[in-house]
Amino acid sequence: MKPLVLINFKTYEESCGDHALELAKAISQVKQKDYQLAIAPTLLTIREIAKKNKSLIFAQHADTEYGAHTGSIPLGELKESGAKGVILNHSEYKILFLKLKEIIKLCRKQELISVACASTLSEIKRIAAFAPDYIAYEPAELIGGNVSVVDADEKIIVRALNVIWKLSPGTKLLCGAGVHSRKDLQHALALGAEGVLLAHAVVKARDPKEFLEKMVG
Ligand code: G3P
Repeated sequence: MKPLVLINFKTYEESCGDHALELAKAISQVKQKDYQLAIAPTLLTIREIAKKNKSLIFAQHADTEYGAHTGSIPLGELKESGAKGVILNHSEYKILFLKLKEIIKLCRKQELISVACASTLSEIKRIAAFAPDYIAYEPAELIGGNVSVVDADEKIIVRALNVIWKLSPGTKLLCGAGVHSRKDLQHALALGAEGVLLAHAVVKARDPKEFLEKMVG
């Protein structure tokens, strides 16, 4: 698979409701061939977006199998709605390790790509044991800012890769937090990561399509 550039829509006003559809459309028109672009829209818009465009879609969270679980998000329904993967344990939506382990297992059963987020090296160590498809290293203090994780935490990224290669060689690393340029993306890949996870730089860009074309085109 090409390096993954996963755009988390979060729940910004600019990426909710009808704006989510416009943003997804703009991203689907980005001209490039070297990366796998993917989007993680709000759960409320996944189904509609999936019907209208062919982007690789991730959910921002998931909880459970089908059953009596009021207010939960079933993985089966996400899949049926068009999601191909799930972001889990984002630092804005932490879950217990045991629960994370269980949901990663369910993802495997449903053939959904799992992206488990970790904010520290010790969290990476614990999560690698669950063998998700991706671990996204996102230090919480850099999220939403303009200092990129790759500039701030180069040494931790290299250590994270060593940990992952040792504990779960099939798991790939994404770098997230403050990623906002072509240089950040290439720096992450040069360190050995297999992509990036980013949000505000795209969602809040004056022209998200133009912004992404500069980054990946
Ligand atoms: O999930 C992406 C994320 O938390 C990074 O956010 O806005 O710093 O790119 P941002």
